[in-house]
Amino acid sequence: MDNILVIGSSGQIGSELVMALRKIYGNEHVFATDIKQPTKEVRKSGPFQNLDVLDFNNLLHFLVRFNITQIYNLAAVLSGNAEKIPLQAWDINMKALMNTLEAARESGAKKLFWPSSIAVFGPTTPRHDTPQLTVMEPNTVYGISKLAGERWGEYYNKRYGVDFRSVRYPGLISYKTEPGGGTTDYAVEIFFDAIKKGSYQCFLKEDTALPMMFMDDAIANTIKLMQADPKKLSLRSAYNMAGISFDPKQLAAEIRKHIPEFTISYKPDFRQTIAESWPASIDDSIARKDWGLSTSFNLEKMTTIMLRKIREKASKST
Ligand code: SER
Repeated sequence: MDNILVIGSSGQIGSELVMALRKIYGNEHVFATDIKQPTKEVRKSGPFQNLDVLDFNNLLHFLVRFNITQIYNLAAVLSGNAEKIPLQAWDINMKALMNTLEAARESGAKKLFWPSSIAVFGPTTPRHDTPQLTVMEPNTVYGISKLAGERWGEYYNKRYGVDFRSVRYPGLISYKTEPGGGTTDYAVEIFFDAIKKGSYQCFLKEDTALPMMFMDDAIANTIKLMQADPKKLSLRSAYNMAGISFDPKQLAAEIRKHIPEFTISYKPDFRQTIAESWPASIDDSIARKDWGLSTSFNLEKMTTIMLRKIREKASKST
């Protein structure tokens, strides 16, 4: 029987991943933890505990006490925020990972998922159809920490046998919990503002294409990777995961199909430079071949669902 620990369960990914895992493994076997309050859904459906991943002893104690066999560590300071507090962000992102790697090794927890990101690539990486193996010279604190993290994950796998698994998430788009401080956040904010105000001021230029993915696809593939036969995994760093590539102008045009009066204006800030250093599109053929990565949301379908769900949320809260 698997007992699963989700670290960072109150965040954008965690709040949805916990619910998906509870459906598969049973509510009482999925332990949600964070230093922030959980969503109502997470709190009501199963165990939630305050746990600071930076506190190694507490983390190790938790793993042993609840006989944890799988860990998902989603705690991170995202790209935009990390640029404002470089040393702290490095410290938090790396310590959170190193603590879980060490705790997984010491406690014998069987599997560890930790997300990497498209931020591992940099301005010298080929921008289109970026391959799995290529030039990697990230120039953001977040990107440097993710690249270092991938290397450490692979190291713990090869050296100590920790079953480390990871993907390079593209920008993730969801309506339940908003992200905070990321460069791809515009693609979430735009939907909320389209419904609330009918307009959006974008912090990236109109033609800045980035790879993105609807949360349902991200969650389904994350769980698929964790359930994959270890013999099929040719990589123990992090797999490229492409999703759909579009720029703010294309997304605005798609929203206008539903809200014809929607307007967008552009006021690029420091995140423009970050976005320009990341790929516009990604080659994820190795993940498709190794463990069956597949997606089912294109730009059209994702836009329709985002607008419908945010409208429903808005009408419930009024
Ligand atoms: N979505 C993240 C960010 O923008 C990238 O992984 O920081």
